[in-house]
Amino acid sequence: MNTLETDRLIIRNFSPTDWKDLYECLSNEEVVRYEPYNVQSEDECIEEAYLRSNEDAFWAVCLKDSNKLIGTIYFQRQEPLEFFTWELGYVFNILYHKNGYATESCTKILEYGFNNLNARRIVAMCNPLNVPSWKLLERLNLRREGHLKQNIFFKYDDEGNPIWNDTYEYGILKHEWTS
Ligand SMILES: CC(C)(COP(=O)(O)OP(=O)(O)OC[C@H]1O[C@@H](n2cnc3c(N)ncnc32)[C@H](O)[C@@H]1OP(=O)(O)O)[C@@H](O)C(=O)NCCC(=O)NCCS
Repeated sequence: MNTLETDRLIIRNFSPTDWKDLYECLSNEEVVRYEPYNVQSEDECIEEAYLRSNEDAFWAVCLKDSNKLIGTIYFQRQEPLEFFTWELGYVFNILYHKNGYATESCTKILEYGFNNLNARRIVAMCNPLNVPSWKLLERLNLRREGHLKQNIFFKYDDEGNPIWNDTYEYGILKHEWTS
């Protein structure tokens, strides 16, 4: 099992038993507002925790003191593999926002990516309306590299029309991280 440690957190692979904490996180409307899915049911979280426990892209972020899962990080190598580029994503339980936990855990993941996985570039995307998300990326020293206009939709309005979203693209290179 892959485990990373920070002052306050353990960042580890998922286990099927994480479903309850995952449910606490993903059943909140506010938390999933900008995600490509809607609030998740208990059954969906049972399935999701099982799937995540069988792949490397998702990390469980847990409080060191209590072992409670308070957030999840997505960190996936992009294709083509020879670009050595990873994409970062994150979703935290609303009860644990505004404590610096996302910054602390994502900093560790970036360090792990550049130092242990030999990442050359790390990228992230978010909706410009999702201010906490792009503020987090800027705290992590990622650079805003693009503003795509109405390039994507995840959800439909009440009349069945796509709700088009803009996207901010962010990135950081290894030499920028180390300097
Ligand atoms: C995106 C998300 C992870 C950001 O969470 P966050 O709580 O703002 O980020 P952090 O945990 O790093 O906390 C930083 C905040 O805590 C404050 N803070 C309090 N105590 C702190 C501490 N000990 N150390 C660092 N910061 C601390 C910081 O000042 C900062 O506040 P500010 O944004 O008002 O300046 C969160 O909003 C989320 O999960 N949203 C729902 C899912 C989502 O939209 N994901 C992104 C899709 S692109």
